[in-house]
Amino acid sequence: MQHSEELRAGPGPSPAMQILRRTSVLLWAALVAAGCQTTSPRPAAATAAGSLPASEPLVTNPRNWPDIFSYADPESFVTRSFALDLDVDFAASQLRGTVTLELDRIDPGARELVLDTRDLQIAAVEAAPAGRTEFKAVRFALAPRDDVLGAALRISVPRDAGRVRIAYATSPQASGLQWLQPAQTAGRQMPFVFSQAQALHARSMVPLQDTPWIRTTYTATLRVPAGLVAVMAAESDPGNRRGATEFRFRMPQPVPSYLLALAVGDLEFRALGPRTGVWAEPSTLDAAAREFEDAEAMLMKTEALWGPYRWGRYDVLVLPPSFPFGGMENPRLTFMTPTVIAGDKSLVGVLAHELAHSWSGNLVTNATWRDGWLNEGFTTYFERRIMEAVYGEDRARMEWGVGYQDLRQALDELAPDQAWRGALAPDLALHKGGEGSSVAYEKGALFLYQLEQIYGRAQLDAFLQGWFDRHAFTSVTTPQFVGELQQGLMAGAPGRVDPEFLSRWIDGTGLPADARLVQSGALERVDEQRERWEQGSLATAALRTDHWSAQEWLHFLNRVTRPQSRARLQELDQRFRLTESQNAEIAHAWFRLAIASGYPGIEPALERYLTGIGRLKLIRPLYADLLKTPQGAEFARRVYAQARPGYHAITQRSLDRLLKAGS
Ligand code: BES
Ligand code: ZN
Repeated sequence: MQHSEELRAGPGPSPAMQILRRTSVLLWAALVAAGCQTTSPRPAAATAAGSLPASEPLVTNPRNWPDIFSYADPESFVTRSFALDLDVDFAASQLRGTVTLELDRIDPGARELVLDTRDLQIAAVEAAPAGRTEFKAVRFALAPRDDVLGAALRISVPRDAGRVRIAYATSPQASGLQWLQPAQTAGRQMPFVFSQAQALHARSMVPLQDTPWIRTTYTATLRVPAGLVAVMAAESDPGNRRGATEFRFRMPQPVPSYLLALAVGDLEFRALGPRTGVWAEPSTLDAAAREFEDAEAMLMKTEALWGPYRWGRYDVLVLPPSFPFGGMENPRLTFMTPTVIAGDKSLVGVLAHELAHSWSGNLVTNATWRDGWLNEGFTTYFERRIMEAVYGEDRARMEWGVGYQDLRQALDELAPDQAWRGALAPDLALHKGGEGSSVAYEKGALFLYQLEQIYGRAQLDAFLQGWFDRHAFTSVTTPQFVGELQQGLMAGAPGRVDPEFLSRWIDGTGLPADARLVQSGALERVDEQRERWEQGSLATAALRTDHWSAQEWLHFLNRVTRPQSRARLQELDQRFRLTESQNAEIAHAWFRLAIASGYPGIEPALERYLTGIGRLKLIRPLYADLLKTPQGAEFARRVYAQARPGYHAITQRSLDRLLKAGS
């Protein structure tokens, strides 16, 4: 890409940036907007990629700014902080009120502030000098809506203005909010609303500069109906309590917009440790507290590895089952799917993952979505290190093994024209968008593991601690990381890697041939049994699964050759009650095997699963599998029609596209 120099030079978007933005309108489906970890190629919606320059390698070309997913122009203005003052109106499914932005004018000549919005109603815009309250109405215009980026809000900012106040309301269909009826909650008595801002959804809640390159502090006042409790990923005012109708918050550390988060519902809190606790609906609280009881231990182990936790408290909010992700690392308050509550802590890797983001992601943040592996790859590596520290090496090795299979599958399923998606930091500007994939997660994690193996664990940990210290509360790019890696860890022990090492890992598509993998003896023994079982030399009744962990089950089910005979699957099902499994991951793996094998009898359970859960990673692959046969497709469409109203907008959007493509 050859645009950043022009960009840094002058006020307003450069021609190159404007071109990029225009092409982005055509090209981007929501890799980041959907963010789910599947790899199904979507139909080619655009053909403009051929007319753009070829992707330049990142190792040798440090220019991968700006953020093409935002209309914001940080060369003109940068938001330093904002104050939210909002009514949470359940009757209208709307947030309504004002946001006041405190701005730094980067270009003294800048007169136009461009904000990101999506489906917002803008009632009025006013400006005032910095630190003053004499607001005066100013001119503004909302540009036409782009499906992925939303609509740019252009505001005329007088020469002396440093603050802008916007009166607005969200749409009931806001992509970043889900408004739930009482019947969609665990308690079934009170309504619930929660947000999900990553990646491009903060702009559907607040007009702002929605790019991870910009960080702001904020304060917020939320007015809610009596009896409901409001929480945010921020410091809660000591006066906040059930029964109040006004809740106040402040986030004193600068955070990127995708970490803005709120929820309102019938919520109760239970402490887990001095700095940790869990929020959930009352009927879910006991189970949640048991499942996540190791949160404090995880927090302390992580501090020992990568330095102090800098966010004060670490709490977990358990959401209703329609939450579209496994977890979301909102600072101080991780948002969590209830599907992780398996009763045996077998899926708490998600907790370790979201906690780890308190360093990789929240403290040091990917500057653009192309740099996403700096968030997710680092975090996946840290997740495994935390699991090792808290639950032992065997557990961590198994989780590496399950993750590796995901990566293998993701890479193997890439169509030749999609090979670019196998890169660690794929050039999003030059290619069609799509759903997210496990590449940034697992290849990124393996890259750090490779560094660990080559340079030593202690050296890598020290280097990473330095990285977090140097860049705390800033946003970073891939070339920045590569540069510091070369000058730090690698320069400290020269000659350990060949000259192509970095470009192989960073720019190469696919997994480098020299990748070192984490071996798991337990998973190898699962493979041995599975192979004998598949060959018929081991009867189903003779399978030794008594002490299998969820990871061993997942490894077994994911790797069984398909299709399997119905008789074989029936034996498995009868012996191990897989169709009835209460472990959402195991049920998912079983359903995939059953669908691929045409095993009958899962339909009622599968229908309950698909209508009961909205977590994309668990349900999207099942819909995709079903679409492969006419009968399955019919079932999928019937179930989807019924389930869709209960899904989050992010899930709806992703599945709408999938089902449309499959017809
Ligand atoms: N930050 C992600 C979730 C996300 C990614 C939301 C991209 C929107 C766009 C979160 O930390 C995550 O990775 N969640 C995983 C957890 C898992 C990998 C342990 C999930 O939701 O499954
Ligand atoms: Zn993550």
